[in-house]
Amino acid sequence: MKILNKKTSPYRNQRPGTSGLRKKVKVFQQEHYLENFVQSIFANAKGLKGHLLILGGDGRYYNTHAIQIILKMSAALGVKRVIVGEDGLLSTPAISCLIRKHHAAGGIILSASHNPGGPEGDFGIKFNIANGGPAPTGFTDAVYETSKTLYEYQIVDCDNVPLDKQQTCYIGDMQIDVIDPVGDYAQLMEHLFDFEKIKSLFTSGLFTMCFDAMHAVTGPYAIEIFNKRLSANVGAVINGIPREDFGGGHPDPNLTHARELVERLNSGPGAPGFGAASDGDGDRNMILGRNFYVNASDSLAIMAANAHLLPGYRQGNCGIARSLPTSRAVDKVADSLGIDCYETPTGWKYFGNLLDDSRITLCGEESFGSGSDHIREKDGIWAVLFWLNLIAVKQQSVEEITRLHWKRFGRHYYTRHDYNAIENNVAEALMQDLRDSGPSLTGQTYSKNKVLLCDDFCYRDPVDNNLSKNHGIRILFEDESRIVFRLSGTGTEGATLRIYIERFVTDLSLHDMPTQTALAELIGIANSVADIKNRLNRDGPDVIT
Ligand code: G1P
Ligand code: ZN
Repeated sequence: MKILNKKTSPYRNQRPGTSGLRKKVKVFQQEHYLENFVQSIFANAKGLKGHLLILGGDGRYYNTHAIQIILKMSAALGVKRVIVGEDGLLSTPAISCLIRKHHAAGGIILSASHNPGGPEGDFGIKFNIANGGPAPTGFTDAVYETSKTLYEYQIVDCDNVPLDKQQTCYIGDMQIDVIDPVGDYAQLMEHLFDFEKIKSLFTSGLFTMCFDAMHAVTGPYAIEIFNKRLSANVGAVINGIPREDFGGGHPDPNLTHARELVERLNSGPGAPGFGAASDGDGDRNMILGRNFYVNASDSLAIMAANAHLLPGYRQGNCGIARSLPTSRAVDKVADSLGIDCYETPTGWKYFGNLLDDSRITLCGEESFGSGSDHIREKDGIWAVLFWLNLIAVKQQSVEEITRLHWKRFGRHYYTRHDYNAIENNVAEALMQDLRDSGPSLTGQTYSKNKVLLCDDFCYRDPVDNNLSKNHGIRILFEDESRIVFRLSGTGTEGATLRIYIERFVTDLSLHDMPTQTALAELIGIANSVADIKNRLNRDGPDVIT
C-alpha cells in the first residue's frame, strides 16, 4: 500500500455550520478542498485510527467521488474497517444507527440535507461521533482551527473501490464492507413499532398512504419498509429512486417543495389518508392528513402525548427537548405529564448530551425534525412510522388526532418566515440592533399584548455545563405568544433571516383560522420591531412554512 504525502494549502472558509460543512459543489471541487477538510477531521478524531468508520451519503452529485477519496484517506490514516452503503448511499439516521449498533468510532455523512443537488447545487460533509450524533461544537471548532493551517494530507494511491454491489474488499489492511443500506435500520424500526398492527391498516383495504422520497436517499428505505414489510398500497412511495440532482427538485419536505405530494393529499375523497415526505438525507419529515397539514411542532407534541401507546415507548417519556424556535406546544404536554422540557439552541447536536444522559426520550425542531433516544439524529422514516402506528392504535385520522390534541392542550398557531440571500452586513446589523433594543422592549405593549421578556437566547448545557450564546432574539408576550429572530447557520449564499411566530389559543371556536390570518397581528409586530421593509427592501418573505 503506497501512502502519498500530498502538499496542499489551507482554505480559510471551512468553518462548519449548524450541520457540518456545507458549500456549493463548485467550492468542493477546488483542488484539495475536500481532502483538506477530511484531513482536518482526521487530525481531531483521535479514535478513528485502528477502529471502525461508517461512511455514506444521500446520493447527491459528488457523493461517490467523495467516498472514494475518503476511503483512500481512511486507509492512509490506519482505519481498521469501513462500513459503507451500497452505491455510497446511507441516510443520516441509518448512519447514526450503524455507528451505535457496531460500536464504531464515528461516521462521515456526505449530504447538504434539504439543499438542492447537482453540479450547480450544494454538497456537504459532517462528522458524527461514537454516540452516533453530530460532533459537538468543541470538535467542529477544532476541525476549523486545523483547516486554517493545513499544508499536507495523506492518501493511498490505489484504484477506486467498487460500490455497486454488497461485498467485502480491502485497501491494504483496511477492510471495506459494502452493505445493504437499509437492513440494520429497518430492523431497528421493527423493534420500536408494531409492524403487524400497521400492516393490518393496509390489508384492511380502507387505508392508503403516500410517501414522497423526493428522489433522495429515503427511496430504498421507504420501498423496503412501507411496500415490502408493511404491504402498503400501490403508489405508497413516489419519487423513490435516488438521483444525483434529486430530479431537479429541492428535497425539502414542506408545503412548497413537496407540491406533488400535497396535491395528491388534497385531491378529494379518494385521496390517501396519510401523506409524508422526507428530505435529501432522510432526517426530516413532513406529516399530512387528507387535506390537512400537521406542523412539525404540533407533530412533536402529539408524539410526546401518545408515545406510551407504542411498543418502543411503553415506559413513557422521561423528558422532552425542543429547539428554541420550535413552538411551545410540547411544553404543554410536558407540563401535563410532569416531566422536564428542555429548550436548546437550533441544531440536533444540542440534544446529544440530554439523550446520552437519559434526560429525554423525544426531541424535535420546528424545521421538520423529530427523533428519540433510539439514535442520535432526527429521523424521517421513524416519524412516519410513529404516526402510522398511532393511527393504527387510535383508529383515527391525522386530522382527528391533531384536533383532539388541540382541544386537550390548546392550539399553537405557528409560522416561520424566511428571507434568503440577504447581504451579510445587513443581516448582522439587523440582529445587532434587535440585541441592543431588546431590553427596552420589555414591558412595552403591542396591541394590548405586553412584552414579558426580550433577550438573546443563551443555553447552559445541564450535562457538561457549557454555555453557548447568541442563538436568537426571543420576544415573549403576556398571552404566551412569541416571536424569535435568528440567522440560519446552514445557508450557502449570503445570510438567511428566519422569523418564527407563534400564538397560543385555547378557545376551541378559534381553532379553525388560516395560520397566516391567526398570526397576522404578530407578523406585523415582528416586521415593525425589526424594520423589515426598510432594511431588506422586499415585499415579503421568500419562504413561508
Ligand atoms: C436548519 C434548521 C435547523 C436544523 C438544521 C439542520 O438550520 O433551522 O432546525 O437543525 O437546518 O437540518 P438553520 O439553517 O436554521 O441554521
Ligand atoms: Zn436533512
